Amino acid sequence: MPSLALRVERKKASALHAFLKESALLVKELEPASDEFHVFFPVKKLSAKDRKIIKEKFAAIVVEKTFKKKSGSRKTFKEILSGRLSRKDLALVGRAFDLVGNIAIVEIPNELKGNEKIIGTALLEAHKNLETVCMKTGAHKGVFRAEPVKVIAGKKNLVATYTESGCVFRVSLGKVFFSPRLAAERLRISRQVKKGEVVAALFAGVGPFPIVLAKKTRMSKAYAVELNPVAVKDMQENVKKNRVGEKVAVLSGDVKKIVPRKLAGKCDRVLMPLPKGAEEFLHEAFLCLKKEGGIIHFYGFAERSNLFEPAIRLIKSQAEKIGKKVKILYKSELRSYSPQTAQIVIDFSVS
Ligand SMILES: C[S@@+](CC[C@H](N)C(=O)[O-])C[C@H]1O[C@@H](n2cnc3c(N)ncnc32)[C@H](O)[C@@H]1O
Repeated sequence: MPSLALRVERKKASALHAFLKESALLVKELEPASDEFHVFFPVKKLSAKDRKIIKEKFAAIVVEKTFKKKSGSRKTFKEILSGRLSRKDLALVGRAFDLVGNIAIVEIPNELKGNEKIIGTALLEAHKNLETVCMKTGAHKGVFRAEPVKVIAGKKNLVATYTESGCVFRVSLGKVFFSPRLAAERLRISRQVKKGEVVAALFAGVGPFPIVLAKKTRMSKAYAVELNPVAVKDMQENVKKNRVGEKVAVLSGDVKKIVPRKLAGKCDRVLMPLPKGAEEFLHEAFLCLKKEGGIIHFYGFAERSNLFEPAIRLIKSQAEKIGKKVKILYKSELRSYSPQTAQIVIDFSVS
């Protein structure tokens, strides 16, 4: 049966392959194919944003193609489950899961209650590198935005070791916020940071933004501010693991208190990855910037019917209050959050 595929010129194939692997878009069970000029990669469903990046960055074209199964490839998760669950139950099992290093996080609908172990074990059998499967037991909650999870199969361990963009992270799942889905966004920011910049990495979590920037850019320093003590501990460990102690200073505490005391007027760039409630910290973000101005990356959740206007209005009114000018440089939907809402990012300059 034909699969969704990307056709790319040979010279761009390895870069596209790396991107697809990092974004978890590659269908690993199928063998990529090639002809004289092109390579074809089997891919999962692509969002409009993925399609745009793939077209603009790699000049790849979406096609349909029949691929061979990789020789010796194991049964897929769904194939294993098909012998263990009824057809009706199987249809309720999602194919997607988040992978944080050696730990998979799955969402299991209420209708499948009682089948958690069967599902977790099948996932372990299908992906031999996995050590633990856990399930979400609620939504991201509280100020720390941690997602509650529990182990359903494999090792009873919730401390993941995750690798992204050449950096390695310890992530205490269930106690801290972490999303591997923001990997491409971290790289997007890293392409903008210039030599010598000072960055305020607010709401830093376990440190993926400042640590990727430390590895990928020639910034002089990132100040990483985080309130959750468990995330701060993970971040301190991650700074050590990645040997970026000279470039990343971890500041434990509340952005509202730390910025006025330690970061006022010091930074060229501010990251605000706090989608729920970042607007309440715009004052602190502006305060971080040097007198001559700089750039702020604002993240938020927004209604699909009006994605950017409410946030832009707030940003402009905050700037007016302190006599600054803002220019919107970039705005984009990052990922879908619910049928009605999406996570957005807005980059703007302040002068
Ligand atoms: C959505 S998470 C982003 C974490 C990280 N930047 C990432 O991408 O993985 C937001 C983080 O902000 C932290 N946080 C929330 N309110 C805060 C505050 N007032 N001061 C400092 N950190 C805060 C939370 O504990 C959480 O780790």
